[in-house]
Amino acid sequence: MLPLSRPRLTVGRLHTVGAAGLVLLLVLVACSSAAPTPTPLPPTALPPTQLPAPAGLTAAQRAPLGEAVYSRSCAACHNPLSASNLRRSFDRFNNAGEMLSYAQRAMPQTNPGSLPAEDYLNVIVWVLLDNGKVAADAVLDADNLAEVTLR
Ligand code: HEC
Repeated sequence: MLPLSRPRLTVGRLHTVGAAGLVLLLVLVACSSAAPTPTPLPPTALPPTQLPAPAGLTAAQRAPLGEAVYSRSCAACHNPLSASNLRRSFDRFNNAGEMLSYAQRAMPQTNPGSLPAEDYLNVIVWVLLDNGKVAADAVLDADNLAEVTLR
């Protein structure tokens, strides 16, 4: 009994699939002919690759970025998560530019120079701001950091 009724079930299912396929095809045809022309993006919505380079940021803007880099890439060795931690190293350098190039050259100790240049700059600026070495509205970069004396 059961084996005999199986083929009929299969036929019924095939019919259903065929009908569904036809409906899908009709829908696709209808959609493709009625496809609207894509509206251009508003000029302010730049894709990430076209965003302007983050030059000209103030120390206050860089500090939170730097703290995030520190917690991700430095705090494992430089404990705890605090900008006063690296303050102890101020007397090793004549100015903040030297400190930056040391960090770029030698840190993280297990993978020196592995971070983007912006990350190193942001960490150092965070340490400087948090320890009162620069003003919150100071616009710092790799070039003018040498003007910030540490001792
Ligand atoms: C794997 C461990 C490790 C990581 C991660 C690490 N450091 Fe260091 N760092 C050290 C050690 C050890 C020294 C001391 C080296 C020496 O005196 O020669 C040091 C020294 C320094 C110094 C020099 C001043 C001092 O206190 O001796 C600075 C500045 C510094 N690190 C910044 C950073 C920054 C910024 C990061 C994150 C981007 C980082 N380090 C990540 C281990 C690490």
